[in-house]
Amino acid sequence: MAEVVVVDDAEAAGSLVARHIAARLEQQPALVLGVATGSTPLPVYAALADLANQGLDLSSVTALALDEYVGLPQAHPQSYRSVVTREVVEPLGLDPAKVHVPDGDPAQIETAGERFEQRIVDSGGVDVQILGIGTGGHIAFNEPGSSFGSLTRVKTLTEQTRRDNARFFDSVDDVPIHSVTQGLGTILRARHLILLAFGESKAAALAASVEGPVTASMPGSAIQLHHHVTVVVDHAAASELRERDYYAWAQLNKPAWQGI
Ligand code: F6R
Repeated sequence: MAEVVVVDDAEAAGSLVARHIAARLEQQPALVLGVATGSTPLPVYAALADLANQGLDLSSVTALALDEYVGLPQAHPQSYRSVVTREVVEPLGLDPAKVHVPDGDPAQIETAGERFEQRIVDSGGVDVQILGIGTGGHIAFNEPGSSFGSLTRVKTLTEQTRRDNARFFDSVDDVPIHSVTQGLGTILRARHLILLAFGESKAAALAASVEGPVTASMPGSAIQLHHHVTVVVDHAAASELRERDYYAWAQLNKPAWQGI
């Protein structure tokens, strides 16, 4: 069972996760951090940027993105390469040479998955993976039906995902149809998964992922197969969890040495 931490708001979640990462960095300055894009992880990056401004050195960190749109030029403001540069690399002071995003260039897309898997292996594997969840239950762009053994590959986005992400584009028609995304099998190899979710729109997918049956129809449920998962959510995203009271009780009685 994943550890579920319910916090008051996204800002509290951001500071909790950022403090955890900062503590990990003290033991392991060359931490390999898996970075999600989208809105959810932004409070974590903002809190890490604050710590960086106060002197936290993240220049030895390797960052590996979860996914990329296929066919958006890297320089497009909504390519995940651009988003990671803008939201993570620059504010946190990461070394751009240590930041890797799957290659969404259609000219070499057939080998993009394999090349990114090799990149993860070469980096020594992901130590801490930040995850968001889609309203339909995807993690990274593993849409419903994705195999639990899947590796980085091209996936077709659902229409729901394209509608959800249309807010970043002029219209839904501008949202790419394909992505190159780490697979569920790739994500499950990371050493610690931190899944974040905020707001009511995530409540159903979150509850199904944490407490529902383990099924490829709900890709987020893959987290139930992992040995170290921390789910950090606000009250709205937690609202459909059956065992909310138990999670709160467990947090109250958590031994201080355990951390998240
Ligand atoms: C992003 C990603 C996606 C998002 C998910 C939630 O790299 O892989 O799984 O985490 O679509 O998006 P937001 O956070 O924008 O609600």
